[in-house]
Amino acid sequence: MSISAQAKLRARELIDFIDASPSPWHAAALCAQRLQAQGFGQLAEDQRWQLQAGGRYYVIRGGSIIAFVLGCEPMERTGLRLIGAHTDSPGLRLKPKAAHESCGALRLGVEVYGGPILASFADRDLGLAGRVVVRAPGGFETRLLRFDAPLMRLPNLAIHMNREVNEKGLKFDKQTELPLILGIAGEGVDAEAHFRRLLAEKLDAPAADVLTWELAVTDTQKGSLWGAEEEFVADSQLDNLASCHAALSALLACGSPAATCVCALFDHEEVGSESAAGAAGSFVTDLIGRIAANAGMDEEARRCALARSFFISADMAHAYHPNFPAAFDPGHKVMVNAGPVIKSNANQRYSTDADSAARFIALCERAGVPFQQYAHRTDLSCGSTIGPIVAARLGMASVDVGSPLWAMHSLRESAGVLDHAHMIAALGAAFSD
Ligand code: CO
Repeated sequence: MSISAQAKLRARELIDFIDASPSPWHAAALCAQRLQAQGFGQLAEDQRWQLQAGGRYYVIRGGSIIAFVLGCEPMERTGLRLIGAHTDSPGLRLKPKAAHESCGALRLGVEVYGGPILASFADRDLGLAGRVVVRAPGGFETRLLRFDAPLMRLPNLAIHMNREVNEKGLKFDKQTELPLILGIAGEGVDAEAHFRRLLAEKLDAPAADVLTWELAVTDTQKGSLWGAEEEFVADSQLDNLASCHAALSALLACGSPAATCVCALFDHEEVGSESAAGAAGSFVTDLIGRIAANAGMDEEARRCALARSFFISADMAHAYHPNFPAAFDPGHKVMVNAGPVIKSNANQRYSTDADSAARFIALCERAGVPFQQYAHRTDLSCGSTIGPIVAARLGMASVDVGSPLWAMHSLRESAGVLDHAHMIAALGAAFSD
């Protein structure tokens, strides 16, 4: 298989994007930085908006960010072109009082965030990233924090004490066997104070000023291209930073579109989206309401606009795995590097319907990229996405798509180099629709 230099360049850009986004808050900040560099202005939710025709803007709410380019035609006539993805990934999150001493070891207690493959966290060089709130003159401020060097570890139990690990799989008791090892506890060490000092040093702030945090456990190993032709990309958080990167790239490339183009990247998808910043929250409806109000649209006009809109929910798809043929429906094997996947589920776990699937096929044809169609095995329960949630709230035509992925929710997932370039092209076509 020949992989173009252009596709490899896109994949390397994706690796850099993921490397700069070790947490949802970092991802939102990175997107903001890239948008700003291309002339997008930041809007504050607590200020009145004065939007200019053809203007380019973004808004951040927690670990979510929505960016948009106002179309040059009236929204009532064109509707919106909306692409959604999620900034969060399943994994481990530190508890508020994480640090403790246990039989001479300093350990950090964690909660399981969403549905990670826990075994993939064992024996890896783990870091920490997220946001920390520190005291500041007149109150406090939220700062981003990341440890890039290996800081913690979840060492496996030797096979001599876990003789059936290869037959029964690697299992962890979530409360007692997942705490991460941070160091050796010296005589009389106060674990919590020790950990707070570690954060304070990194933030260059007094330890007493470190108040609270939300910290995710990260993989410190950078992404890589692999395979005989470097046709695959391996990294953490491909689900769903690959879709965020593709959607953002499409938005940044769109010139002066006729229809208003929106790129909505949400936090909290992996835990059900039900939060202020999540896809089930008010963020996207608030934003559309404000755009409509700014354009002087009444309720009738806003509803006409929604009825003429199209939403693409971009998340990753389950690539066919040749070692596990029984896990897949034989008629719906989606292959790595064979193009974007349209995901359908009769029980509406995906938002795709016949109309929206056909519309996405037309976009792929226009972009000159292949497409594939996926349905889960009938005897397995299917995952879901932000697609049905957003479609239900906005009453909008909607399709669920994604690039094929191996090892979804592992700390090190794999996808296709060509697929990423294809997805950027297909989403680009949606914004020039
Ligand atoms: Co996902």
